[in-house]
Amino acid sequence: MTEVIDRPISLFDVSDPSIYANDTWREPFAALRRAMPISWCPKSPFGPYWSVVTHDLIREVEAKPHIFSSADEYGGITIIDLEPERSLPNFIAMDGPRHAAQRRTVQPAFNPSEMERREDEIRGRTRALIESLPLDTPFDWVEKVSTELTIGMLAILFDFPWEEKADLRRWSDWSSDLRPPELRDEAFLAESSFQLNQMLARIDRLMEEKRALPPTDDLISRMVHSEAMGHMPERERLGNYALLIVGGNDTTRNSMSAFADICARDPAKLDQLRTHPDLVANATQEVIRWQSPVSHMRRTALEDHEIGGQTIRKGEKVVLWYISGNRDEAVFADPETVDFARENARRHLGFGFGVHRCVGARLAELQLGILFAEVARRGARLEPAGKPQWAPTPFLHIYAQLPVRLVQA
Ligand code: HEM
Repeated sequence: MTEVIDRPISLFDVSDPSIYANDTWREPFAALRRAMPISWCPKSPFGPYWSVVTHDLIREVEAKPHIFSSADEYGGITIIDLEPERSLPNFIAMDGPRHAAQRRTVQPAFNPSEMERREDEIRGRTRALIESLPLDTPFDWVEKVSTELTIGMLAILFDFPWEEKADLRRWSDWSSDLRPPELRDEAFLAESSFQLNQMLARIDRLMEEKRALPPTDDLISRMVHSEAMGHMPERERLGNYALLIVGGNDTTRNSMSAFADICARDPAKLDQLRTHPDLVANATQEVIRWQSPVSHMRRTALEDHEIGGQTIRKGEKVVLWYISGNRDEAVFADPETVDFARENARRHLGFGFGVHRCVGARLAELQLGILFAEVARRGARLEPAGKPQWAPTPFLHIYAQLPVRLVQA
């Protein structure tokens, strides 16, 4: 194949999983923002791709879904090109009316009235957990708090039996394990397929139980009684279950961990929320901006098109790095600083932008706001009890471990 030279070649391959595991991704992105807001990386573990790293260009691409497709048949929404037999259709990886119809089906489960209905339950569960945390004893915040709260939320959202919620956690981990092809050996593929089939069978059973009952407002009931999602083929059911489980779980989980990391590094942050509880809502946006739980979304060009002065050719992969757009100095002053009072924190791209913007954003905001308020209310101080560990993946920005300790303030 002849080399393409009509484009700026990326100074860095920002898809390299090790920069996420080592937490060294900030400088490469800052350099790209300064020198080349859009650039071509000809070689990476995930093949060639365009990197879009500034706030305005990410929004520009997302505002043109008819040109920059999310659809599975062209490669889907992550930098990883999955083999067709591994790719599961779901509505985040669909375009046009099919996407719109499925999104419309689940959207009411996240309406303000539904959130209001859930608030007391979320607060009660969060308060009980935060009050049960030991003083002066190191523990892993990811395991004890972030994972526990988000899996619990998911079980409630799916009306899933509480005593089986460990299964949801395991399926979520398998669904979001998008390792590069060379790391997907036969044992991995066999276990992955076993886990996903187990998830399909269990949630199908839940769906059938709901089908037999009159429609209600919860997520599964809405899906099963709808025209758009009531009779999906097997792989599409599996894909949509995985989307809702991963979408609602890994993302919120990592924002919860980021909050604890921020407060452990700087005790003044928790004091600020204690003295100014009115800052909680803005703080949730700032934490999502700073953490960017979804590092990127990918699109594929359906035709030649110019963005930021570069011609993207039909069929090329375009990676939208939210983790960089959320640090764009042109929009966010002093972007590495966490400022709970940041006046434009809401402009972050952590939930994406345009027709695919996160449908569960309100639920995430509600869970995070309640957690922040409850940690402030507990009155203890968070301290680091070891180094955070991050997962080696360029897709979700994952805290694998966050050792902390609570001490009396
Ligand atoms: C879509 C981030 C929480 C369900 C998305 C997208 C992002 C995102 C970046 C893609 C947007 C785009 O392509 O423009 C986040 C973050 C969260 C979070 C950072 C937490 C802090 C949730 C929750 C749920 C959820 C709690 C539900 C249980 C979904 C679904 C989509 C989506 C179903 C697909 C929407 C569509 O394609 O129309 N989310 N999300 N997310 N999210 Fe979230």
